[in-house]
Amino acid sequence: MKTSYKTIQAMPLSPAVGAEISGIDIARGISDEQFSELRQAFVDYGVIFLRDQELTPEQHIAFAERWGNINVNRFFKATDDYPVIAEVRKEADQKGNIGSAWHTDHSYDQRPAMGSVLYAREVPSVGGDTLFASMYAAYDALSDGLKKMLLAMRAEHSSRHAFGDAAYFNADLDDLGDRLGNTAAATQDALHPVIIRHPLSGRPALYVNGDFTVKFEGWSKEESQPLLDYLYNHARQNEFTCRFNWRRGSVAIWDNRATHHCALNDYHGERRLMHRITIEGDDLSAYLSS
Ligand code: SIN
Repeated sequence: MKTSYKTIQAMPLSPAVGAEISGIDIARGISDEQFSELRQAFVDYGVIFLRDQELTPEQHIAFAERWGNINVNRFFKATDDYPVIAEVRKEADQKGNIGSAWHTDHSYDQRPAMGSVLYAREVPSVGGDTLFASMYAAYDALSDGLKKMLLAMRAEHSSRHAFGDAAYFNADLDDLGDRLGNTAAATQDALHPVIIRHPLSGRPALYVNGDFTVKFEGWSKEESQPLLDYLYNHARQNEFTCRFNWRRGSVAIWDNRATHHCALNDYHGERRLMHRITIEGDDLSAYLSS
């Protein structure tokens, strides 16, 4: 059941996930009541979008701080003057973009980041959309038998293979090396329930991640991979997703525990520059914890 709001309006992007919010001008200031409704919309929709925001970096940071403490990403290059703002950038002559595979951020941390506030500074004339998928919908659509098995399982997540020396962006195959780095810091490992109780909504959500999940606890990698692949493919079914078409000045605030996302890399020859601020999260518990 979606909430009705008094100070904002929500226009869902799909039945499963995502809503565009109107009635908010971050630069002019947001009242406590508006912010509390914005937070409720974030819980209700998993990812929310604002249009036509004119923000200085300081205003972007102040808005992000209303959501929680800022988590400085270890591996993304930051903007020159603002270490808390990570750049998600692709130049016209570059081939690789950041985040082109379906994933959720920071699941290698013991307390994975809540989500990010992504601000579009430069967008291509066409393309560069971002897809989001609901991990509530993914869980709900599993069979009772598979739910029962997954509810008792945990999975291992790591930053080592993704951001360490063997990382894809460190290889000659790719041109992401000017935007990602600090491979020596890729030492995080974490064990999380496969089905989490969402810290804000209390709903069950599927929590495995194509970028960072290594295997199920007590299973070998070879045993884990086929089931992980099944779950990744299951979770990105069209019916569980929405697609956001960015314009300059758009803002997305997404929940890493309720959604996955995928940044389309279909705009070669044009520049796309986003500023990302990530917010600290919570401990994750199993939906069925004893
Ligand atoms: C990301 O995965 O943080 C990038 C999202 C985007 O560029 O749309």
